Amino acid sequence: MNISSYTLSNKYASQANLVLECNDTIEFTKKLPDESIQLIITSPPYNIGKSYETRVSIQEYLDTQAELIKELVRTLNPCGSICWQVGNYVEKSEVFPLDIYYYPIFKDAGLKLRNRVVWHFEHGLHASKRFSGRYETLLWFTKTDSYTFNLDDVRVPSKYPSKRHFKGDKKGDLSGNPLGKNPSDFWRILREEFDCGIWEIPNVKANHVEKTEHPCQYPVELVERCVLALTNKDDIVFDPYAGAASSLVAAVMHGRKAYGVDREEEYIKIGGKRLELLLSGRLGTRPMGKPVYKPTGRETISQIPMEWTQIDGSAYK
Ligand SMILES: C[S@@+](CC[C@H](N)C(=O)[O-])C[C@H]1O[C@@H](n2cnc3c(N)ncnc32)[C@H](O)[C@@H]1O
Repeated sequence: MNISSYTLSNKYASQANLVLECNDTIEFTKKLPDESIQLIITSPPYNIGKSYETRVSIQEYLDTQAELIKELVRTLNPCGSICWQVGNYVEKSEVFPLDIYYYPIFKDAGLKLRNRVVWHFEHGLHASKRFSGRYETLLWFTKTDSYTFNLDDVRVPSKYPSKRHFKGDKKGDLSGNPLGKNPSDFWRILREEFDCGIWEIPNVKANHVEKTEHPCQYPVELVERCVLALTNKDDIVFDPYAGAASSLVAAVMHGRKAYGVDREEEYIKIGGKRLELLLSGRLGTRPMGKPVYKPTGRETISQIPMEWTQIDGSAYK
């Protein structure tokens, strides 16, 4: 599909190619036909008390999620995938890694895990009673063994492209792939302090090409890799907790149909605006594969404060 063929609808209809509906996720999912979706990708609420969630016991939270997951699996195409991006639920400083809790729910629903991708980022809260968390995970499940996986569409440049076979029949030949290497299950994709409400500095937010007022977005780039690898053009990508519509943006950028639902009117407005900007060619996103920024050492904030060089035990002496 090319960008001019999309029409944004605010209610699901079977012929629609781009839907962003304000509704409860289970109500919306029940409307979708069996086996119609190629990729379900989301970051669900983590039950940590964000503005859009009421904190409940972890068991109550998981029971609701299991009910939704059962319904999602019904809508999934036999060649399709579910990507579930989660971090930790924290209670009284105790960490509950959500992917560990989710795994049996997906397994009981008959799905097979293909990768547990570690999404590593540099920024986040600085913990004082444990090591600071700098990764979240993305669980990629498939419904069957014959699933879509377009590795060539997501290969990345190799570190040593000139490496050659040093023995055997192929001795002397280049050993790599000119299309690039497999991106592996360790993804370094930029997330800044302001991506998860850790910093709320207006001009920093304004400087970030993708930032909206949603308190917890994930980067479009994270979804793009899944869309390219796990779907083909014109397939349907569905985000059951759409937030600022990052998944829909990634799907449309690559010619896929996109559905999303969120129960907060405010986020639907933000997501709708983003999609309209995208359709009119005016939406900024961070280009896929752009190297993560490394300070040169010349920036004022990356220099060592004089006061710290005088302190006993300073790490900066
Ligand atoms: C972690 S955020 C998703 C953010 C999204 N990935 C993005 O990049 O903007 C989770 C979203 O789920 C929505 N939500 C929570 N419970 C819901 C429910 N029962 N039905 C629909 N949406 C819900 C919240 O309003 C919130 O926007």
